[in-house]
Parts: sequence; C-alpha cells; structure tokens
Amino acid sequence: MSKLQSLREALAVSPANVPLLMLYAQACIDELSFDEARRAYEQVLVQEPERVEAKLGIAQLLQLTGHLSEAIVRTEALVQADPKLAEGWLLLSRLELADGDRRSAAEHYQKALQLRPALKDNALEKLVGLSGRAAATAAGGSTEKERWPDDEDDYNDELSAERLLDEVSRPAISFADVGGMEEVKEEIRMKIIYPLQNRDLFRAYGKKLGGGVLLYGPPGCGKTLISQATAGEIRSNFISVALHQILDLYIGNSEKNLHQLFQLARDHAPAILFFDEVDALAADRKDLRESGMRTLINQFLAEMDGNVANNEGILILGATNAPWHLDAAFRRPGRFDRIIFIPPPDEDARIAIIELMAKEKPVERLDVALLARKTKGFSGADIKAMFDVTTEQALSRAMREGRVIPLTTEDLLQTARDLRPSAKAWFESAKNYALYANQSGFYDDVLSFLNLRK
Ligand SMILES: Nc1ncnc2c1ncn2[C@@H]1O[C@H](COP(=O)(O)OP(=O)(O)O)[C@@H](O)[C@H]1O
Ligand SMILES: [Mg+2]
Repeated sequence: MSKLQSLREALAVSPANVPLLMLYAQACIDELSFDEARRAYEQVLVQEPERVEAKLGIAQLLQLTGHLSEAIVRTEALVQADPKLAEGWLLLSRLELADGDRRSAAEHYQKALQLRPALKDNALEKLVGLSGRAAATAAGGSTEKERWPDDEDDYNDELSAERLLDEVSRPAISFADVGGMEEVKEEIRMKIIYPLQNRDLFRAYGKKLGGGVLLYGPPGCGKTLISQATAGEIRSNFISVALHQILDLYIGNSEKNLHQLFQLARDHAPAILFFDEVDALAADRKDLRESGMRTLINQFLAEMDGNVANNEGILILGATNAPWHLDAAFRRPGRFDRIIFIPPPDEDARIAIIELMAKEKPVERLDVALLARKTKGFSGADIKAMFDVTTEQALSRAMREGRVIPLTTEDLLQTARDLRPSAKAWFESAKNYALYANQSGFYDDVLSFLNLRK
C-alpha cells in the first residue's frame, strides 16, 4: 500500500486528526494531487483556524498550481502578522526566487536564517546568489569540485552541480544480472549500445547519435533494472535522475536545475541521461498543463531538441509505468522517438530470474521449471517477493531451531499461491489505451502481447 493510501485509511478512522491531515496533505503534494492537498489543508483550518503551517501549505499549493502572485501575497500577509515566522520568510524567499526577484529572495532567506539557523538551504543559497559558489550552478562541468573542495553537501542540495557529479556513474550491474529479456536486451544493443560505441561509423552514414528512448510497461518488470544494467554494459557515463529529484525540480519550479542536468550530460558526452518515472515530469495532465509545470515541460522539450546547446552524443533514456500520461509532444521525432515495451517475463525469462534469485539463498535443489510454470503473469518484482517472503519464513524457523533451513520448491510455491500478479491491473488500463488511443501504433506491442493483433 502506498503511503498516501495508508494515510487515507487512517483518516477514514479519524477524520479530524490535524497532524494526520498535515501529513496527508504533504503526501498528496508528493503525489501531485494538489486539489486533494488543498482540501486537506482547508480541513485543518476548520479544526484549527490559526494553524499557520496549513496556511503556508496553501500558499505553496498556489505556487504549484500556477498562482504565484497570490501565493506571494498570502505569504507576505503571514509574515507581516507574525514577523518571527521563520518558515514564512523561507517560503517567501522561494516564491520570490520563482518570480525572478532574487534580491528580495536573498533578503528574506537571510531573515529566515537569522530566526532559525536550522533552515539553512544550500541550494537556495546558491540560487539567490548568497554563497560564493553561486556560479557553479550555472556552469556545471567537472571543475567545480576542485574549485570548492570544502564539500559540505546537505540533503537540500540534491541538484547542485557538485552533487550531481557523484551521480555520473557506471552502475555495477550488467545485462547478466537481468534475467531473460533477451529481445529487450537486443533492442537496447541496437538502439543504444552500438550507436554509442560506433559514433564515427554512425557519422559516416550521416547519422547523429542522440535523441531519446522510452521504456514503458507494467511496474516491477525491470525497467529501472535494465536501464542501470545498460549503463553497466557500456563505457559511457550514466546520470540517473530519480523520481524524488524530478519532484524537487517541480517543487523548486526550476527550469535552471533541469538545464544544469542536461548540461552535465553534455559535458560528459557520450553519456546517458536517465529519467526514471519520467511521466512525473512530462505529464500531460490538465492540472499540470495549467500550472507552473508547463514552463518546466517546455524547458525539457527545448533541452531535448538541442535548442539550448548541442546534444550530440547524449542519449536520453526515460522509463514510465504510465505512458498515457506522457505529453504527446514528447513523442515527436527527435524526442522519445524510439519506444521499447518491457513486458512481464515469459516462462523462459522466469526461469532465468528464478535462477538468479536462488543464487543468493540457501536452497534445496529447486524445480525451477515447475516454479516458472506456476508463476505465470508474475513480474520480476513478484518473483523477488516470492523469494523474500519465503526467506523470511525460513529464517524465523531457522532461528527457532538454530540451524540453516534451506528454501524448498514447495515453500516457494506455497508463497506464490498467496501472491497476486501485480501487472494485471496495469494491463487492464493499458488495454483500453491500446484499443482506443493507439496513436501512431504506440501501443502495438501491448496489443500483440495481449494477442489482440499481429
Ligand atoms: N528481469 C529481471 N531480472 C532480475 N530481477 C528482476 C527482473 N525484473 C525485475 N526484477 C526485480 O524486481 C525489482 C523491481 O524491478 P524494477 O526494475 O524496479 O521495475 P520497474 O522499474 O519496471 O518498475 C528489481 O529490483 C529486481 O529485483
Ligand atoms: Mg522503476
């Protein structure tokens, strides 16, 4: 169950619980459910009309939904009423920065800090030009590290150039760690690896390396895993942008940070820039279109098109469970124009995955073929869950009896009976999109997977 779901259930039991409502509102913001968050804050104010955190929350929501000036006005009123409200000054500073008023932003940030030093936010400091390092955010590149050796990164600093450099990495896993998916691996070799390895050859045929590849499919079937493994397969740099960073970009309303990310990839070309759960950033939802998010989406498109700088040698890899939320503009030529469907593992792939997972556990000789047959419809994550749950049971028995108890085929089958294949719900949605909204054959692979075509 997601965090949001558990909070919803808790609130069903105690609907007037203010701390719970506050947590719930924040979780809604994390999931981009702004209307829901707004209702939660308003309920808080019904219970406690003076609850200032809820008022600040509403101001933040106004910004997120594109009402920046109203957000500023309300926040100003709050700090005027209570000039000691450190969080208020901090929010005001962020809003002013989003509004392009760096001077006020710097001033009010300092005010917040005087009142409460713990509110220190290195990233904001840089953006408002208060730290000597302000230039670093604009420049990107690999020299910042040497110029500022006093690296004292903190959590808020997620998207600073220095911090991102640590993320230019080559993950330790390779295709050998991904069970099955032979066709997908071959497709990735053709679409990503060979072009990267043979750039000159590519050029000789008048082709440029770059553009975007989108992986989509049900959750738990290895999109993130195969992306990391792709990076491990090739000798090029891999910059991974996780969902929480995407949300930070959004919350910070920060086109500049996005530019910095792309710039980092350009500086390290050939490189792969990987956006996991890219739909969070590139969503086609109406509420996002009408908000400040639109500017971020436009910035993303401009960066992808190379309007901003040369993208030769950088490849943008995106993964999503919800391709139908992706703004159609992202699928035009030169953007995410190579699409790869990542299906649940077939029987052979399940054999490979089961063998991989059994390698790390004490197992009795397993009947792998039987297990693979009995886990039809399971995703890789479901198979992992089967192993995890069974391991836990074996472990508690082992502790009781004081000896190692290996996992058996029967134990695993027993667990599998209680697990529901998690991809099923996904295919129910996907089927509708594939049947009724299959523009330019985007979902053809889903249709043929479901035996509805070809
Ligand atoms: N083909 C596979 N081989 C091995 N493990 C897999 C495979 N597919 C999924 N898994 C397991 O399931 C977990 C979740 O997969 P993940 O790549 O995060 O799925 P997705 O990104 O598609 O939601 C992985 O961390 C891995 O443990
Ligand atoms: Mg994933």
